[in-house]
Amino acid sequence: MIIKPLKKNSEFVAFVSDINLKKKLNKSEIGIIQKNIDRFGVLVFRNQSLTDDEQVNFSEYFGNIEHSGKKSNITKDSDRRLSTKLADVSNIDKKSIVFKKNDPRRIFNLGNRLWHSDSSFKKIPAKYSLLSSKTIVKKGGNTEFSDMRLAYENLEDDIRNKIETLYCEHSLIYSRQRLGFDMEKELSKNEIKNFKPVLQPLVRKIEENNRKTIYLSSHIGKIKGWLRPDTMCFVDDLIEYATQKKFKYVHKWKVNDLIMWDNRQTMHRVRSFDDVNETRDMRRTTIEGKEALI
Ligand code: OGA
Ligand code: MN
Repeated sequence: MIIKPLKKNSEFVAFVSDINLKKKLNKSEIGIIQKNIDRFGVLVFRNQSLTDDEQVNFSEYFGNIEHSGKKSNITKDSDRRLSTKLADVSNIDKKSIVFKKNDPRRIFNLGNRLWHSDSSFKKIPAKYSLLSSKTIVKKGGNTEFSDMRLAYENLEDDIRNKIETLYCEHSLIYSRQRLGFDMEKELSKNEIKNFKPVLQPLVRKIEENNRKTIYLSSHIGKIKGWLRPDTMCFVDDLIEYATQKKFKYVHKWKVNDLIMWDNRQTMHRVRSFDDVNETRDMRRTTIEGKEALI
C-alpha cells in the first residue's frame, strides 16, 4: 500500500494506492489505514469498483455502521434504492430516473451543498464517512473538504478563546431552513420529534492526534445562550473563515473513487451540477462515533 500526501509536509488529504479494497484486509493493513485517516482527515482511493456489500465490509473495519432512513417519510421504505447500511446521496430513484425539480427528496439532498459535518445533528454523530462514485456528471459535482484542525490552529487568539467553551444546537431543521425548506411544514409532528436539536461542543479535541478542531456545520442554528440571529452571523463568519482556499481540498470525481473522511476533523460540501438532467450515483457508508459528546 502506498500513501501519498496531497502536498509535501501537509497533514491534510492523502492518496492511497496499491491496495484492493474488495479483498479481506489483514490487521496490519487496517492499522495503516486507521493511522492515516486519523492523521490526514481525508483519504482518496482510486479505481475501487466495489459492490455495496464490499463497501460495507471495508467500512466495518473502522467501527459500527450508522444506519440510514426511518426518521422521516421523505424517502419511503418501499422507495429505497439501497440497503439501510448505505446513505443514498444520489439524485435518482429506484428506477434510476432523476428526481424532478420539486421532489422533496431532491430538495432535501440540496442540503449537501452547504458546508457540513455528517450527522452532527445526532447525539452520537458520525466519525467517518466513505463515499463511492458509480456514475459521475460531466460538469460540476465536485466535493470540497476543509481542514478544521488547521482552521482552529490559525484562528485569531480572541476568537479561539471565545469559542473554546461554546456549545451549539445542531438540527436538520436548521440546515434545511437555510434552503427555504420548512421541515416543520413538510413533516408530521411525529417525524419532527426525530429532528430535535442536539447540543455539541464547538471545539473538540481528537484523542488520536491531540489536535483540536472547530466542530462546525450548517446544521447549527443556535449557540447555547445566544440569540439565533447572533448565532447565524457568527457561525456564517466562522464557516467562511474555515473554508478559505488555504484550508480546502477540491475533489474532482472519477468513476470508482472511494473517499473516506473524518467528520470530526473536516467539513465538506458538494458543488452544484445539473441534477434534474444528469445522473450522479453516489453511495455513502457512515461509521458512528463512540458516544454522545456531552
Ligand atoms: C455526503 C455528502 C457529498 C457529495 O455523502 O455526506 O455530503 O459529493 N455528499 O455527494
Ligand atoms: Mn455529507
